[in-house]
Amino acid sequence: MREIALHILDIMQNSVAAGAGRIGVSVTAGNDTGMITAVIDDDGCGMDERTLQEVTDPFTTSRTTRKVGLGIPLLRSSCMRSGGNFSITSQKGHGTKVTASFGKDHIDRPVLGDLAGVVADMSASFPKIDIRLELISGEECFTYSSAEAARILGEVPLSEPAVIEWLKEYISEGIKHIFGGVLDEIAG
Ligand SMILES: Nc1ncnc2c1ncn2[C@@H]1O[C@H](COP(=O)(O)OP(=O)(O)OP(=O)(O)O)[C@@H](O)[C@H]1O
Ligand SMILES: [Mg+2]
Repeated sequence: MREIALHILDIMQNSVAAGAGRIGVSVTAGNDTGMITAVIDDDGCGMDERTLQEVTDPFTTSRTTRKVGLGIPLLRSSCMRSGGNFSITSQKGHGTKVTASFGKDHIDRPVLGDLAGVVADMSASFPKIDIRLELISGEECFTYSSAEAARILGEVPLSEPAVIEWLKEYISEGIKHIFGGVLDEIAG
C-alpha cells in the first residue's frame, strides 16, 4: 500500500509544476478525532472551474507525455477506502489547496511513511520554494520552513548532503514528538 508521504510528494510535485513559490504541508492527527488530515496548499497558478471539476477524474491531465493523471485520483481513492474524505479547492492565479483525510485506526489506512525524507528532499531540490511543514496533535505543534532554514544556514546550501541528513533527523524528531503514541507506526 502507498504511504501517505508519497501521496503528499505527488501533490507537492503538482504545486511545483504550478510554479508555486510557497508550498505548505500540514498534518494533523488526534486520538480525539480519530482522523489524520493532510492539507497541502500552494500559491501556484491554480485551476479554472472546469479543470478543477475534472481533476478527480483519472482521465484528466495537462501532461502531454501521457494521457492519464493519477496523483489526485489515487490519493482520493486511498482516503475514501480508509474512511476519510478528500477535497480540493483552487483559484486561477492564486493557488490550490488539497485536503485529504484518513481514518487513523482504519485497517486500510496507509502508514505515514518517510515524510521527513520527502520534506527534506523537496527542500534540497527546490531551494527557491519555501517548503513549510506543520505537524499538529492536540495542543502540540511542530513547524518547519525551508526558507527559514536557508536563512539560518547562510552560505551553506540546503542541497549539501550533511544538511539534508540533518534536516531529515530534525523533522523525524518532530514527527516522533508530535505523533508518537498517536499513530500506531510511530513509537511513543
Ligand atoms: N496544485 C496545482 N495547481 C495547479 N494545477 C494543478 C495542481 N494540482 C493538479 N493540477 C492540475 O490537475 C491535473 C491532474 O493532477 P494529477 O496529479 O492527478 O495528475 P498529473 O500531475 O497530471 O499526473 P501524475 O500525477 O500522474 O504524474 C494536473 O495535470 C494539473 O493540470
Ligand atoms: Mg500529479
